[in-house]
Amino acid sequence: MLPTIAWQDSDIVMIDQRKLPAAEIYVTCRSVNDVAKAIKTMVIRGAPAIGVCAAMGLALGAERSKATGTKQFTTEFQRNSELLAATRPTAVNLFWAIERMKQSFASGALAGESVDQLKARLRAEADRIHDDDIASCRAIGAHGATVVPAEACILTHCNAGALATAGYGTALGVIRGAVAAGRKVRVLADETRPFLQGARLTAWELVKDGIDTTVITDNMAGAIMRAGDVDLVVVGADRIAANGDTANKIGTYTVAVLAKEHGIPFYVAAPWSTIDLATPDGDAIPIEERAAREVTHVGATQLAPDGAHVRNPSFDVTPHKYITAIITERGIFKAPFTDTLSQG
Ligand code: MRU
Repeated sequence: MLPTIAWQDSDIVMIDQRKLPAAEIYVTCRSVNDVAKAIKTMVIRGAPAIGVCAAMGLALGAERSKATGTKQFTTEFQRNSELLAATRPTAVNLFWAIERMKQSFASGALAGESVDQLKARLRAEADRIHDDDIASCRAIGAHGATVVPAEACILTHCNAGALATAGYGTALGVIRGAVAAGRKVRVLADETRPFLQGARLTAWELVKDGIDTTVITDNMAGAIMRAGDVDLVVVGADRIAANGDTANKIGTYTVAVLAKEHGIPFYVAAPWSTIDLATPDGDAIPIEERAAREVTHVGATQLAPDGAHVRNPSFDVTPHKYITAIITERGIFKAPFTDTLSQG
């Protein structure tokens, strides 16, 4: 399995996703500031992966602390939590993981644990978050395989694979689960402008796995659906509101509308940590706006003229009416999502 993120002694090592597929370079984070920078600059990206990374970052920050008393140690932990929470706004997994670390910290503090005991507890909790994420992805894969016909062409958008999680993937977990269950699968990977997660990362992962993969530019999806060459769509998610509205990579909404128009099932695959029952609907999900340069340039090459205004919302919201079902480790959830998710 791909090593998305791992401990190396007490440092955190992650594959640099900005450089793939041209180069397989690993970045070492030695401080919580390094970890925050890695999330912000997309060395690591994908909702579950950044949650896991933040949890590991908090454990790393604790480990590096020179505090001798719990008062100062607690202040530092709170400051580190705030730093990591300010890296990216849309993926709820980031906040979910920080909250889980905070709860673990609070119960240790309540029990009167020493600084060393708290450090050990935070490392253990981060490891559990990492391992649980892989287990969730595998369960998503097993559930998701049941919706894939014996022979299928599956379209996916962005990268919701091993690289976007602690391992195995969510949308790509469904694809891997289907292949493992003996389905004959072909994949259409939207290139996913502007950061090209589909062309660079999804295609890289799937080709490595020997899965039949075709990269298309984002604007080809409609014509290929109309030609009858897509059996189902499966995408990941950054945040799923209580009513099922789903934030995911920009362009997902377009794909969902196209799928509905062509009678193609549209599935969202995500771990439960992506479901945010405290957010009532998609309008309440904060959408990250990223730097203009991602749109005006590809690498060092400038495409758009100086002086042109640029928009770069990194995510969009797919209203729940376009979603056939949400595939999670707890099973497959269908409309009415407000009822089914609240009972999940
Ligand atoms: O900006 P990114 O690359 O972090 O966006 C990633 C996505 O939108 C993924 O589809 C989503 O996080 C699900 S990953 C399992």
